[in-house]
Amino acid sequence: MRYFLIGFMGSGKSYWARRWGRLHDLPWLDLDREIEKHAQCTIAEYFTAQGEEAFRRLEHETLRSLGKQTSFILACGGGTPCHFDNMGWMNENGVTIFLETPVDVLLSRLQPEHRKRPLLEGLQGEELRGHIESLLDQRMSCYRKAAVILPFDQTGDDTFAAIVRQYA
Ligand code: S3P
Repeated sequence: MRYFLIGFMGSGKSYWARRWGRLHDLPWLDLDREIEKHAQCTIAEYFTAQGEEAFRRLEHETLRSLGKQTSFILACGGGTPCHFDNMGWMNENGVTIFLETPVDVLLSRLQPEHRKRPLLEGLQGEELRGHIESLLDQRMSCYRKAAVILPFDQTGDDTFAAIVRQYA
């Protein structure tokens, strides 16, 4: 089965993909890292050189190319489900899992590393909070199309094990 972890930047997609992949003997992948392999530069460098539109196209193509593999757990980028038909395609080809995370938690995780993320560059404090809130607001309807919505306080190994049993 293909599992797609979706959610805002800082919601723990990469952490859980690695952890659950190891626990369930599933190949785990990170879409940002796959994009970086194709582009041969970092996401931040790609954004600066080519802009967001080109990034979204590359993200879409990289996601589609992973469809050749039938079993994995993938940490998507925060914007992946909200561009092209990515969300529909993921829902047709696997189980989408939304890691729903409160803004305060996102803020505390993103504050120290806002420089690594092109969409948050230069933002701090209240400005960063405002930006997170408005982007999250725009994306929520798309995240909510996930097959499984995991509230923050219910995200753990047992919950994923139950999902695996349900979709096996
Ligand atoms: C983005 C999230 C990033 C990365 C890019 C754009 C977004 O991934 O794909 O910087 O649009 O939210 P993470 O969610 O892994 O930080």
